[in-house]
Amino acid sequence: MNIVLSGVKPTGIPTLGNYIGALRNFVKLQNEMPNAEFFFFIADLHAITVPQDPKVLKQNIKNLAALYLACGLNPKNLTLFIQSEVKQHSEMGYIMQSISYMGELERMTQYKDKVQKQVTGVTSALFTYPTLMAGDILLYDTRYVPVGDDQKQHLELARDLAIRFNNRFGNTFRVPEELISKTGARIMDLQNPTKKMDKSDDANKGCIFLLEPINSIKKKIKAAVTDSEAVVRYDKENKPGISNLMTIYSALTNLSFEDIESKYEGKGYGDFKGDLAEIVAAEIEAIQNKFNEIISSPMLDELLDKGREKATMLAQRKIQKVYKKLGLGR
Ligand code: AMP
Ligand code: TRP
Repeated sequence: MNIVLSGVKPTGIPTLGNYIGALRNFVKLQNEMPNAEFFFFIADLHAITVPQDPKVLKQNIKNLAALYLACGLNPKNLTLFIQSEVKQHSEMGYIMQSISYMGELERMTQYKDKVQKQVTGVTSALFTYPTLMAGDILLYDTRYVPVGDDQKQHLELARDLAIRFNNRFGNTFRVPEELISKTGARIMDLQNPTKKMDKSDDANKGCIFLLEPINSIKKKIKAAVTDSEAVVRYDKENKPGISNLMTIYSALTNLSFEDIESKYEGKGYGDFKGDLAEIVAAEIEAIQNKFNEIISSPMLDELLDKGREKATMLAQRKIQKVYKKLGLGR
């Protein structure tokens, strides 16, 4: 059985970056791999590695669960659950800490970036974040982990830890493989296109949120930073703004960069941005309509209960095996 597993942190409202880099990709994979099993979870334990307002966190968790479905995941072949409701995630995270080294965690770029921004109040959980993530993945004998490319390094650590554990204690974990989509693995900020679009940053004009008013989304796209050349051409180095917008365009329409270039030959950025604003708006409006239905239906809690039960059963089996291999307990 091939298990595909991924998680998203319930920090803030998911962005267009999350949608193109992760959520939408999950839906595609579900269609392409009818025989695989899909596990998606809301990584709330990961969220508290930085301060959260408890009331807002609770709301974000529910919203994210509904958004997974609103983006088109098929609930029939889906184990959807909340990380903190499956206690074995914390247990496995601790086990992973016991086989990882300070040096390898210190090298993680996400940690280094956050420390640079935060300076004071950096928690030890932020440091051990990748070990919790490795535990999430290894608990279920996951084969594929679809993520955006910012998570590549964490995934490599999960692979290293699986191999290390297997070598020391005998074959226990399946070594997971990454699945990074070709287009849109990193959507950049619309105002600062050398930085990734990130919902955990303080909200600004450069970030499109899946639950924000459609008019405001259109405005942000039209106000996106470009360059003075006024030619729609993909050149990530010299034209990061327009290249980012073309990535969004391409991801949502399946047109290649060449197709887009010839379509807008001789036209300025205004036409291009106007069309892109309509494309993004239509896609997000459809998601919002579904979201509004799902968030007020009892089906969501039923699905999360079912997901928790199934995940707990599998995770418990794995934890018992791991404890036995380690010689823990009686
Ligand atoms: P996070 O919001 O950090 O929990 O990320 C959830 C998922 O969205 C992960 O698979 C990330 O790799 C992906 N992701 C986050 N931001 C972006 C972005 N700007 N572009 C593409 N993928 C992203
Ligand atoms: N760390 C991931 C992120 O920030 C979220 C995550 C947590 C995750 N556990 C995971 C993703 C396990 C894939 C598999 O985006």
